[in-house]
Order: sequence, then structure tokens, then C-alpha cells
Amino acid sequence: MSTSAILSTTGAIDKGLAPSYQPFKENYDLESLVQDIKEHLGESGGISSEDVNEAYLISLAKKYISDPSDWIEYFHNDTSKNYTRNAIENINHKANILLLVWNPGKGSPIHDHANAHCIMKVLAGQLHETVYHTPETGSKESKPMTIKSSTTFGMNEVTYISDDIGLHRVHNPHPTQIAVSLHLYTPPNAADYGYNIFDEATGSASHVSQAHSVSKK
Ligand code: NI
Repeated sequence: MSTSAILSTTGAIDKGLAPSYQPFKENYDLESLVQDIKEHLGESGGISSEDVNEAYLISLAKKYISDPSDWIEYFHNDTSKNYTRNAIENINHKANILLLVWNPGKGSPIHDHANAHCIMKVLAGQLHETVYHTPETGSKESKPMTIKSSTTFGMNEVTYISDDIGLHRVHNPHPTQIAVSLHLYTPPNAADYGYNIFDEATGSASHVSQAHSVSKK
């Protein structure tokens, strides 16, 4: 905590302005965010996609302001990969919270979200999201996939996707700088059951059996 933050905290207490003030919790840090997500998702059993209030979770992700000192402990970058998935928190059968590190100019394949909610917040650098319309299932005709939207997100911006919205591909558009993002997947279906990736030219899907992540725990 900075000296000025300590001073302002003391000031607030002295003036009696904030009776329920928690001196060391005035910043909404990553730990607070994870705690609020856990609280929303509850302690018992598994959940389905319908049990989740995604608008509330998005509001929590927006409330958090990126501070590298919160997430540097999870930061691991494998420069031989397009991106590295680092586990922050695995809430059994409820959610996965990950820190993704994207190498310059690199990105993900086009993928679905295994009937789960996906919230992404940029913590450093920029990420570009291309959303595609989901190809018609059962169609034998192969056709190029069509783009629904294409957006660049800067630091602290939040985006949300689910299979109801479409499919997406995420990439770091910067030629030299890495990007870092926070991802919340709930329920953690992609990690538990796998997900699909899609060929942009034909719309054909291939199943990936498990979404792996690197854990330091
Ligand atoms: Ni995704």
C-alpha cells in the first residue's frame, strides 16, 4: 500500500466518514474479485450455465483495475506457444479463473465455449476478438465462416462470449509486446469435457479433449 493510501485511510477513519471501513481492503484487488466470484457461485455441488448471473460477473470483472503486482505470481510465458494458460483458481465444477499470456502477433484458433460463459478482461497490452457466426450443424456443404464482429480491447476492458453469441478467435495484434488477460469460464466445461475448434475456410469442427492450464500450486 502506498503512503498516500495509508494517509487517506487514516483520514477517513479520523473523520468517522466510513464506519464499516476496512483499512487494508480499500482496493478491489484480484483476491477480492476471486472471492466475490466464489461467493456468487456458491459452495456446494456443480452448476449449470443457467445458474450463473453473467451480468453480475461481468460487473465484477469491470470493477477490478489491473495491477501487475496482483497477478505477477501467476505470470508464466512459454515463448514457443501462441499463448500460455496459467491457472489462478479452479473452483471445482463451478469455474476456472485463468491468466493468459499472449505472445506478440499470436492468437487462439476459432473455438466454442462448451456451453459455458466466458468473460475476458485485458490486464496488459491489447487483444483483438473476432466473433464468428456458428456454422449450421449437420450442413454437409463446407463454407467459409462469417464474421459477426471484430473488436480490439485495451487494458481493463472486458468482453463476454457464450455459444449463444457465437464462436471467437482471440489474438494479440501487437508486433512486439505481449498481452495478458484474465479469463473466467463458468461452468468449467472446456477443462472438464473439452471444446471444439473450427476451420475458418470450411466451418468444420474438431474436438479438443481438454483445455489444459499451467498451475503453480
Ligand atoms: Ni474463448
